[in-house]
Amino acid sequence: MRSKMNEPLSVVVLISGNGSNLQALINAAEEEKYPARISAVISNRNDAYGLQRARAAGIVCRVLPHHAYETREIYDQALMALIDSFDPGLVALAGFMRILSANFVEHYSGRLLNIHPSLLPKYKGLNTHQRVLDDGEIEHGASVHFVTLELDGGPLILQSPVPVLADDTAESLAARVLNQEHIIYPQAVKWFAEGRLKLVDGVAMLDNKVISTPYD
Ligand code: GRF
Repeated sequence: MRSKMNEPLSVVVLISGNGSNLQALINAAEEEKYPARISAVISNRNDAYGLQRARAAGIVCRVLPHHAYETREIYDQALMALIDSFDPGLVALAGFMRILSANFVEHYSGRLLNIHPSLLPKYKGLNTHQRVLDDGEIEHGASVHFVTLELDGGPLILQSPVPVLADDTAESLAARVLNQEHIIYPQAVKWFAEGRLKLVDGVAMLDNKVISTPYD
């Protein structure tokens, strides 16, 4: 999937907040031989801390505030135009707190990844850590998946479980899950950039084999 021989894949990362997953991707991309580079970071919020992380790494940043747009569809059109101006081979959602329109998802079909703080298909949506605690689960974790029209429902790529401890709070559990996110997201992006990871007829494939995870 690299555009030219030996040229790293261009990735645009979308954020809304802290950007610790962005930082993990930045760190990975700084490693020698990592097959992807972050060509731009786009946030819908101008106070997203991740923008500072990107600037510190010398990465181009853009802010596209959603308030200025009348509808989700109109905003997403503007967002697509901005993303496409960087000509990415991959778009990585990293804590981008927006529901995406169908047009957007279809436009980037097969090259749109997300990281979610749960062992999908369990705990789609928000507040996953507190919900896991409320349910008395003994295991939680993180998932990377292709984005499709079903919210948090796209084909899974990588998952990493963590134990839920007796004295966990939502914060302590979130921190344990985030540590795993920071490992699996750069790994999934690496596979994609190497051309090993693909979405084929709605199925995630790694090295031409269907990916299946214990949590499918
Ligand atoms: C992460 O938990 C990610 O899984 C979810 O939003 C959070 C973003 O955290 N989609 P950060 O901004 O990357 O620190």
